[in-house]
Amino acid sequence: TGDALRALLLSRIHDVPDYPKPGVMFKDITPLLADPVAFGALTEALAALCRTHRADKVVGLEARGFILAAPVAVSAGVGFVPVRKAGKLPGATLRQTYDLEYGTAEIEIHSDAVRPGERVLVIDDVLATGGTAEASLHLLRRAGAEVVGVAVLLELGFLGGRQRLQASLGDTPLEAL
Ligand code: PRP
Repeated sequence: TGDALRALLLSRIHDVPDYPKPGVMFKDITPLLADPVAFGALTEALAALCRTHRADKVVGLEARGFILAAPVAVSAGVGFVPVRKAGKLPGATLRQTYDLEYGTAEIEIHSDAVRPGERVLVIDDVLATGGTAEASLHLLRRAGAEVVGVAVLLELGFLGGRQRLQASLGDTPLEAL
């Protein structure tokens, strides 16, 4: 059931206080990745979303989104596309700048990574402020994709990411496992 999956996943995410700086509670997913039962259950739940939304490709957001999205692509039988931090992709790229608490960040995708109208499911580990997901939505649409869903393992509700994403998402579902 959904509740059992939820309990399993939560039991494999460890809280690390004061990392990377004092006052921050870091959510460490490495115990989940190290457990084949939990990682497998997560992969299958995400692959099921992929099929439900009839995604043609999954998009992973660097870096931990890559780890989660790659096995989903294989399981669902669709391609994998990386959205990378700027400067890492060798071909022609589209770039999206977004605001951080202090300063800005930039992400990129290969210009030809998706075909016009191709249906993509965006996957990441954590939704925090929503800045990364929001920028990815804009970037993917500029690249011609139809984003059919955003799926994360963990949503930190108190940071308001879902609210921030509301306008960009429209009717596109945001699912937190
Ligand atoms: C983390 C996380 C998400 C993002 C969420 O990645 O994996 O991608 O931050 O934060 P937001 O909702 O406030 O944008 P990070 O930038 O730490 O990169 P990494 O996975 O490469 O360590």
